[in-house]
Amino acid sequence: MAVRPVLQLGDPRLRQPSAAVASEVLGTAQLAALIDDLRDTMAARAGAGLAAPQIAVPLRVVIFGITRNPRYPDAPPIPETILINPRWSPVGSEQTEALEGCLSVAGMRLPVLRASRVHLIALSACGQRIDREVEGFEARIVQHECDHLNGVLLPDRVASA
Ligand code: NI
Repeated sequence: MAVRPVLQLGDPRLRQPSAAVASEVLGTAQLAALIDDLRDTMAARAGAGLAAPQIAVPLRVVIFGITRNPRYPDAPPIPETILINPRWSPVGSEQTEALEGCLSVAGMRLPVLRASRVHLIALSACGQRIDREVEGFEARIVQHECDHLNGVLLPDRVASA
């Protein structure tokens, strides 16, 4: 377990699409170690979510969750969630704009328009299928973290007036 450096905007590694986690890696100590590092790093930086490429591991692995978070004082609690190879699609056409931060874009909160509700499909760390609808802040986090897996960063998503 370790707190790892978080790559910052301008680092080309944040722009590379990440690779899918192979099925034989699911449930392994290697994957568990990566998840531990993501958890420790997110907690140390008081993040609401973190994607593996942000700690220079180009794999489609995401962690998110909120208890009491000084970066997001008004956010509802969200249990810790690990997503492997996640994908999402919008449910309905409603979109919501809100300020977002990112541990790789230090010191900035930017307004981003996101789907209000999404259908999420992913695997858990041990390979169980996750298939559910999420909404609100959780839907926003899912979309933000999936962007990281595709090399897309917060400033790319800033709503144009
Ligand atoms: Ni981010």
